[in-house]
Amino acid sequence: MTTESLDPAADSRRGFLNAALGFFGTIAVVGVIYPVGLYLWPRREKRPEGGARSMKIPLAEVPIGDAKFIRFFNKPTVIIRPNEQELVALSAVCTHLGCIVKWNDANSELHCPCHGGVFDTKGAVIGGPPPSPLESYSTTVEDGYIVIEEA
Ligand code: FES
Repeated sequence: MTTESLDPAADSRRGFLNAALGFFGTIAVVGVIYPVGLYLWPRREKRPEGGARSMKIPLAEVPIGDAKFIRFFNKPTVIIRPNEQELVALSAVCTHLGCIVKWNDANSELHCPCHGGVFDTKGAVIGGPPPSPLESYSTTVEDGYIVIEEA
C-alpha cells in the first residue's frame, strides 16, 4: 500500500513546508551551536609573523610621577613613570575579579575601586584581596616614544 496523496496541491504544500521547516531548523541549530562554540573555544588573536605585538606612545604623554591609561590591543593598560629612570606598563585589569584599577596620585599607587585592592607602581599587591600582581609588559624608549611590547 502506498501513501501517495491524490491531491497534487497538498503534496506541493507538504513539500514546501518540509523544506521550510528544514531550512529554519538548520538556522536555529547553527544559531545556537555557533555562539556556544565561540564561548567554549574562543578565537585567538592573530599576531604578526614571528614576534610579539608592540605599540608606541609619545614619551611626553606620560609625565614623570604620573600614569596614563591606554588600550594596548584592546586591553586596558596603564603606563607609569615613577621617576626619570623607571617606566612601567601594566595591565589595568585587577587580578581579583577583573575591575579596572585607578591611579592614585596622592600616594602613587593603583587602587581597585571594587574591593579595595592596592598595587604598587610595579604591579605588586600591597593590599586587599587580589591574589596576584598585575600583568606587566616590557617597555623601552626609542626616539622619544615608549614602545610597549607583550612579554
Ligand atoms: S576586583 Fe579588584 S579588588 Fe576585587
